[in-house]
Amino acid sequence: MKVDVLLGLQWGDEGKGKITDVLTPEYDIIARFQGGPNAGHTLEFNGLKHVLHTIPSGIFHPEKTNVIGNGVIIDPCILARELKSLRERGAEPEKNLVISKRAHLILPTHRLIDNVQEASKGKQKIGSTLKGIGPAYTDKIARNGLRIGDIQIGNFKERYEALKSEHMRVINSYTPDASLLMIENKPFEEYEQLWFEGLNYIADIPFIDSEIFINKSLQEGKRILAEGAQGTMLDIDFGTYPYVTSSSTISAGVCSGLGISPDKVGKVFGVFKAYCTRVGSGPFPTELTDETGNLLRENGREFGSTTGRPRRCGWIDLPALKYSVMLNGVTDLVMMKADVMDSFSQIGVCTQYKIGEKLFDFPGYETLNQEIEPVILNIDGWESSLQDFTVWDKLPEKFRKYVRFVEKSLNLPISVISVGPRRDQTVVRLV
Ligand code: GDP
Ligand code: IMO
Ligand code: MG
Repeated sequence: MKVDVLLGLQWGDEGKGKITDVLTPEYDIIARFQGGPNAGHTLEFNGLKHVLHTIPSGIFHPEKTNVIGNGVIIDPCILARELKSLRERGAEPEKNLVISKRAHLILPTHRLIDNVQEASKGKQKIGSTLKGIGPAYTDKIARNGLRIGDIQIGNFKERYEALKSEHMRVINSYTPDASLLMIENKPFEEYEQLWFEGLNYIADIPFIDSEIFINKSLQEGKRILAEGAQGTMLDIDFGTYPYVTSSSTISAGVCSGLGISPDKVGKVFGVFKAYCTRVGSGPFPTELTDETGNLLRENGREFGSTTGRPRRCGWIDLPALKYSVMLNGVTDLVMMKADVMDSFSQIGVCTQYKIGEKLFDFPGYETLNQEIEPVILNIDGWESSLQDFTVWDKLPEKFRKYVRFVEKSLNLPISVISVGPRRDQTVVRLV
């Protein structure tokens, strides 16, 4: 068996959580392979809306195993909060969630470092979610990090204190009075206490060698779906650097983030919105700062699931999507949120980038750092509601024309179409 992958092709928030939940019945195991609580994955079903940050989106299916893989980074305080809110909804995560012992910990001081480093960047700030992502991955690569498996080893507190004092030296170099810094509006000591309480709270979730579990499961014929966080254009190598996150968000990240070899990667589902959004700073060639942009934001409820920040909105960007398809080896496309444009008489599609007199099909190294004029093709809107459709053949012809146009441009089938936030608002065209 192989591991299928589901990931975002744009700048995050494509709707990965919803589609993972929809596809979960087809799989035995759902695994997160990178990112951390910077992610916010929204699921809606049976009148409930739930946002997951660290936990895979298959968690509401009690018979399916959910894995937080070694490539993920964990803030125990946030994970504990997530577990509590799942239990309030009747879920029993101790029965269907496991965590890799190799997953790194986000310390409270990582969050302070994120905070002071962002503040010091002024206008160049990345727009980080301030969850400590960059500093925690930095410690992992610099070989200073603490991992989930370390919690069960005797000298954990000592190692925590040593790393904390290293961090304090860094923090003090940025700010005259570190004691004034808050985390989630709480003084440091208060958050630190919650963090240690979180460590105890998460202890009833099995800590395992998840790479062995995943590979054994494949041998036993189990079906596995790897769920990405963030999006391809936020990838540490190929995203709009430095306005990116600190992990490999592309399909290659699945190999190192779960411990599988490249030949074990199966289908790759590339999830994208029928338009485009971005939260935080950085290049966004098709951004609309006018009324249409506002309409996309209002209709699409485009406010961050993790931070509540308004998302920047714009037309679909085919050059960026082509690049993402190439990097990930996408086999199946998943189109989200076209219903947000139900009332639009015209829909803009960016087919190329123009810089001066030159045209570009892809976002190259230089392109994104220059003033890009998106070449926009206007397509007729369908001007009717898509939200109640569940069958492809019944969808309005003008919408199907739009879908076929995108399929042709990206040279791939759109196998799933989402027409609303709920689980049941999905048109599956998988054959
Ligand atoms: P993720 O991070 O990729 O899982 O996406 P988010 O959950 O951050 O953002 C997607 C938002 O769009 C959430 O509020 C979803 O409930 C919502 N959503 C998902 N699919 C659709 C859809 O097809 N139509 C509409 N209108 N909303 C959707
Ligand atoms: P999901 O999984 C959208 C963005 C932040 C910022 C940049 C770096 O819900 O799609 P970080 O906190 O990672 O150091 O922030 O990346 N970002 C996201 N944008 N969706 C996400 O996750 C994101 N996770 C991080 O806004 O611009
Ligand atoms: Mg999100």
